[in-house]
Amino acid sequence: MLFPYQIKSEEAYHQAYKQSIENPPAFWSAIAEHFTWKKKWDDVLTWNFSEPNVQWFKGAQLNITENLLDRHLPTKAHSPAIIWEPNDPEEHHRVITYQKLYEKVCQFAHVLNNNGIKKGDRVCIYMGMIPELAIAVLACARIGAIHSVVFGGFSAQSIADRLYDAQAEYIVTCDGAYRGQKDIPLKSVIDDALIGNRTVKKVIVCTRTRTPVSMLKGRDVWWEDELKKVETLGLHDFPAVAMDAEDPLFILYTSGSTGKPKGVVHTVAGYMLYTHYSFINVFQYQPEQIHFCTADIGWITGHSYIIYGPLSAGATTLIFEGVPTWPDAGRFWEIVDKYRVDILYTAPTAIRSLMGFGLGPLHGKSLASLKVLGTVGEPINEEAWHWYNEQVGKKRCPIVDTWWQTETGGILISNLAGITPSKPSWATLPLPGVQPILVDEKGEEILGNNVSGNLCIKTPWPSVLRTTYGDHERCRTNYFATYPNLYFTGDGAMRDENGFYRITGRVDDVLNVSGHRIGTAEVENAINMHAGVVESAVVGYPHDIKGQGIYAFVIYSGAHGDETLSRKDILTTVTRIIGAIAKPDKIQFVSVLPKTRSGKIMRRILRKIAEGETENIGDTSTLLDPSVVEEIKRGKL
Ligand code: WTA
Repeated sequence: MLFPYQIKSEEAYHQAYKQSIENPPAFWSAIAEHFTWKKKWDDVLTWNFSEPNVQWFKGAQLNITENLLDRHLPTKAHSPAIIWEPNDPEEHHRVITYQKLYEKVCQFAHVLNNNGIKKGDRVCIYMGMIPELAIAVLACARIGAIHSVVFGGFSAQSIADRLYDAQAEYIVTCDGAYRGQKDIPLKSVIDDALIGNRTVKKVIVCTRTRTPVSMLKGRDVWWEDELKKVETLGLHDFPAVAMDAEDPLFILYTSGSTGKPKGVVHTVAGYMLYTHYSFINVFQYQPEQIHFCTADIGWITGHSYIIYGPLSAGATTLIFEGVPTWPDAGRFWEIVDKYRVDILYTAPTAIRSLMGFGLGPLHGKSLASLKVLGTVGEPINEEAWHWYNEQVGKKRCPIVDTWWQTETGGILISNLAGITPSKPSWATLPLPGVQPILVDEKGEEILGNNVSGNLCIKTPWPSVLRTTYGDHERCRTNYFATYPNLYFTGDGAMRDENGFYRITGRVDDVLNVSGHRIGTAEVENAINMHAGVVESAVVGYPHDIKGQGIYAFVIYSGAHGDETLSRKDILTTVTRIIGAIAKPDKIQFVSVLPKTRSGKIMRRILRKIAEGETENIGDTSTLLDPSVVEEIKRGKL
């Protein structure tokens, strides 16, 4: 059997779970034996959550790309590794076999090497959803450079902050990217991000949109020109650089409750093992299947379940450049039929948005190839779950509701497709190796069933974040200090009589807008940059499609007095500072914000108002001036 550790029955799940908890080193090393190592480990696991210091497979050496590519060549050289569906359905799609992908990754590894990039260097990747993005990621991994992919929707300012934080010296980008009817000038955004930057030495630019770009002599080079040099020399292989198990593989920035995104660091061996294990078990991947994850590679879902998980299993992964609603809202279904997709993994927000178009876009689509459906990124409401089950899965496909985070690297709580039971809007049970617990405000464990609390994890799984780049203390205080000796997820959860978990959402100041994490403090910082803004407070409110919308209360002293224009100015500012994804859905101008005597904004009250609550605003007695609540309520949008 190809994957002897694939769980094939509910009983086997319980057995694997028990083994994984009783003896984690024995459990994970047995799986690790199936991978290619340059040197085996001395120790499977050493850890403490107080520093934190977690080390899996200490002493081992490997290269993750040998496990994703070289390892499959004897049997899969001619099988498709990547299928690429372009934004424009009229353009030709591409199929890249494992042999071809291996060669392309090796060639681009030469390009990186020729441009002075070495093991440990940070490479910022800012590209659209084209195969070259995956190739750039894997080429970094091949030479041991640390990739930091930045989602194409982030602004120049956001890129500049990330470049600075990671002290990145290299960038790989494109001239532009297509997304629906839009043409995003990526290189020009990079140029803006680099104004005043003194650390970046090289920018490699891949051609996609043929948007005119300015290429700076000595700094900017074309991907294609660099590749030609390598091809002329007839180079097809690049020896995989030996990495320590705990060497960083990548940095991925994510929002927290402070104003500044954190660079979450994942390391080679644990991340490889866990994305592989979770991929084949949650989705019940079978050889030859086609896996379509609709996320962007700029987010963790794309890292783990477009690139690393599927390729580690020798699967065919589908990369889609465009958006679900262009040229029409049937695009996903068309792609499913065109390539006979087996596994479809998407976000509740996409499902809700497609539901809004009715059944028309599904007419004439067979969807008969689908075997497993998945969701990720936010709680799925029952209505969307049933629509997905009935209209897309035709009631024949198990749905996996996968709960996890950028920091967890892979799926931690989910049913296993067709193996363990599902329950609409419940992520259900932890994967082997994962020990969730619920705690109260004081950190006391909440025992028993039919309870709710703050979700923590007790012990390390292989792909737990190791640090936040350049600031280990921040990692400790953010994740490991709220409740001593526990990893705190920032989510609240319920546990039912079967021990199933339902994630109820963030309990910190982080919003989840269309499945994207956005810190309220970050949005406030951006709004406050606008010259006319005195102060602002941002909260989330329930939004039919996005899950959560962004509601901003703003004290404004702008001179021109035109509220509509002022709102637009603020939106433009947020787009410039963070990116369009962080634009508030509603901006209410207020003359004061509800504050305590010590000057702290009482967001709890603003949240209630934004949610449309008029009666039960809660205790306002600690407010400096309780009458402000009435004023703000009157102005609600
Ligand atoms: C939320 C995305 C409910 C949660 C992989 C978490 C979910 C945050 C689910 C992480 C789910 C993710 N049900 N909520 N199945 N999956 N979340 O880092 O609040 O972008 O903390 O990782 O998304 O978002 P991130």
